[in-house]
Amino acid sequence: MNWLCEFMTSSIGKKLEVALFGFFLCMFLVVHLGGNLFLWAPAVGGDPGHWFNLYANTLESQFFITFAELGLAAVFLVHIAVTLWVQWENWKARPIGYTTTAWAGGRTISSASTIYTGVILLIFLIVHVRAMRFEERFGGQLYSHVLHELTGTPAAVFYLVCMAALGLHLSHGVQAAARTFGIDHPKFTPIIEKLGLAFAIVMAGSFGAIAVWGGWFAGGKP
Ligand code: HEM
Repeated sequence: MNWLCEFMTSSIGKKLEVALFGFFLCMFLVVHLGGNLFLWAPAVGGDPGHWFNLYANTLESQFFITFAELGLAAVFLVHIAVTLWVQWENWKARPIGYTTTAWAGGRTISSASTIYTGVILLIFLIVHVRAMRFEERFGGQLYSHVLHELTGTPAAVFYLVCMAALGLHLSHGVQAAARTFGIDHPKFTPIIEKLGLAFAIVMAGSFGAIAVWGGWFAGGKP
C-alpha cells in the first residue's frame, strides 16, 4: 500500500487525481444541467413547475441519493484540496513569481486564471448549495424555491459572473486534463482543445441562460 500512497502524493499522481475528479465533475455538470432544463418543460394544468418538481421529488425519494450526494461532495473535496495543495507547492517553489504577464509563454488567460476561477466557483458552490439544498424544501415545491432564489438583478449578476468563471475554468481544465491523461498529439490536441472550448461554452451558456431567465423573465419573486 505504501507504493500507492507514494504515487498518489507524487507530482504526477496529484495531477492525475485533479484531472480524474475534474472529469467526474464534468459528468455531474451534464446531469445537473439536464435536470435543470426541466425548469423549461411545458406547464401541466396551469402549473409551470409540474415536471421540474416531479423530477426533483423523484430523485429525492431514491434510496441511493444520500450516498450519491456524499460521493459528489467527496469528489468536489478531492478536486479542490489536491488543486490547492499543488498550487501551494508551486507558490512555495516560486515565491516571487514571473515578471512577465501571467499568460506569456503559451499560457492563455483561462490557464493563468484557473486557480482564481476555481476560487470563485468554490464561493459559488457554498452560496448555491446552501440556498438550493439546505434551505426549507417548500413541501416538494422546489420550482418556486428555485425561482425565488434566482429572481432579481443581484442574483442574476452573481450567477452570470460565476458562470463566466465556470466557462473559463472548463475551457482550460478539459484540455489540461486530456494532456495529463497523456493525450498530446499534433492531430488530436487541436480537436480536444476545440471540444473543451465547445463544452465550456455549452455549459456556461446554458446555466447562464437559466440564470437570465430566472433573474429577469420568469417572475419568481412577488
Ligand atoms: C442557473 C444555474 C443553476 C441552477 C438553477 C441550479 C439549481 C440547483 C438546484 C435546484 C439544486 C437542488 C437540487 C436538489 O436537491 O434536488 C442544486 C444543487 C446543486 N448544484 Fe446547482 N444549479 C445551477 C448551477 C450549478 C453549477 C454551475 C454547479 C457547479 C459548478 C452547481 C452545483 C450544485 C451542487 C453541487 C448541488 C448539490 C447537489 C446535491 O447535493 O444534490 N449548480 N442546483
